[in-house]
Amino acid sequence: MSRTPLIAGNWKMYKTGPEAVAAATRLAELASDIVNTDIMIAPTFLSLPLVSGVLAESNVKLGVQNLFHETEGAFTGEVSPGMVKAAGADYAIIGHSERRQYFGETDDAVCKKVKASIDADLIPILCIGETEEQRADDKTFSVLDKQITNGLNSLCSRDLGTLVLAYEPVWAIGTGKTATPEQVAGIHEYIRSLINRLFGNELAMSIRILYGGSVKPKNASELMALDDVDGALVGGASLDVDAFIQIIRYDR
Ligand code: 13P
Repeated sequence: MSRTPLIAGNWKMYKTGPEAVAAATRLAELASDIVNTDIMIAPTFLSLPLVSGVLAESNVKLGVQNLFHETEGAFTGEVSPGMVKAAGADYAIIGHSERRQYFGETDDAVCKKVKASIDADLIPILCIGETEEQRADDKTFSVLDKQITNGLNSLCSRDLGTLVLAYEPVWAIGTGKTATPEQVAGIHEYIRSLINRLFGNELAMSIRILYGGSVKPKNASELMALDDVDGALVGGASLDVDAFIQIIRYDR
């Protein structure tokens, strides 16, 4: 089965509104001829409506880096899936390791956010990955098992038709230490087999599994060439439109 690659940029807490608009405008121009790759950027909530206007006629989609699972209510400081959908987002990054690490996000909270995203017709990108310590302790597979099993608890393959997974080893994020192609190949194969075991072959074959962690123009093509890698979730390099477009054009 062929899976359309997705190259997604997580802008984290970078770029003011005007900076985000300028970068998105340039990206939309540079990516206007790309038809065989899905492209997404996730700016801050604040920039979402501004960037949405710029991307409306383009083939670059918009996402958020987080959301809250309730539809509305007295939840000070939070933003709902319906609100981000109305502001123009199609994707929601859920359970990024920085949210787990700095904001105490649990698998249970992640699961609620995945469900709420699907209910609001957003495509969830569920992030999973082990820390350096967990890898050293040989716990990589058990950590991924737990994050996937609990993060998708009580969902079924029918619900998960649009779900994207992003394997982001924590030790490779923002460190310049990319996982080797051999490491990535083994983990992605394992993740696909786990999805097969939990949800069946059809979802396992169709689900897109992205790699994230120090993806740069120089290493994108060797990572994207791997059978079970269906795109990238890019942090630092996505902030620079020229670097990001090179990653998007990895196979050209
Ligand atoms: P870097 O590409 O900066 O390592 O960040 C990866 C990431 O966290 C994307 O979500």
